[in-house]
Amino acid sequence: MSKVTKPQEISVTRPISEDLPEDKFHQLDAFIDNMGTTKGSLIEILHKAQDIFGFLPRELQLYIARKLGIPGAEVFGVVSFYSYFTTKPRGKHTVSVCMGTACFVRGADKILDKFKENIGINADETSEDGCFTLRDVRCIGACGLAPVVTVNDKVHGRLTEDQVADVVNTYRRKEE
Ligand code: FES
Repeated sequence: MSKVTKPQEISVTRPISEDLPEDKFHQLDAFIDNMGTTKGSLIEILHKAQDIFGFLPRELQLYIARKLGIPGAEVFGVVSFYSYFTTKPRGKHTVSVCMGTACFVRGADKILDKFKENIGINADETSEDGCFTLRDVRCIGACGLAPVVTVNDKVHGRLTEDQVADVVNTYRRKEE
């Protein structure tokens, strides 16, 4: 990976749009400009950008690359490597079903099917009401609790097919 250095004092055009409003660029720029150095901070900056914008579309990745003076390919590589990062807008609640080996042998595929059925979407989709995004992910490191599902940051371990509807309804009620 090439080195990430102090943000350059060059003006980088902001790809402002409905999804990428100007005030959010102000927040991101302030975060980057307040860093003493951005060397080695690409992941931290991407986390912050995803917090602010909710997702990391290609034009935003390119903006960050230009701002840091690094190749776009380096940013694209990091974003596509970590499943935490998303290039599409997510719903209010992100349901991640672990499909790692330990979870798979304990029926993760059936749990995933139940979530699809209950929410009414496929994996990597967001419900029309914007309430849920459903994802199938690699091992999240909680194999002892297999099968494991996370909803946002909360871990639901040893989940059974029968519990799926309750989990979905709990988060749905929060939006009513
Ligand atoms: S395989 Fe699911 S948490 Fe490790």
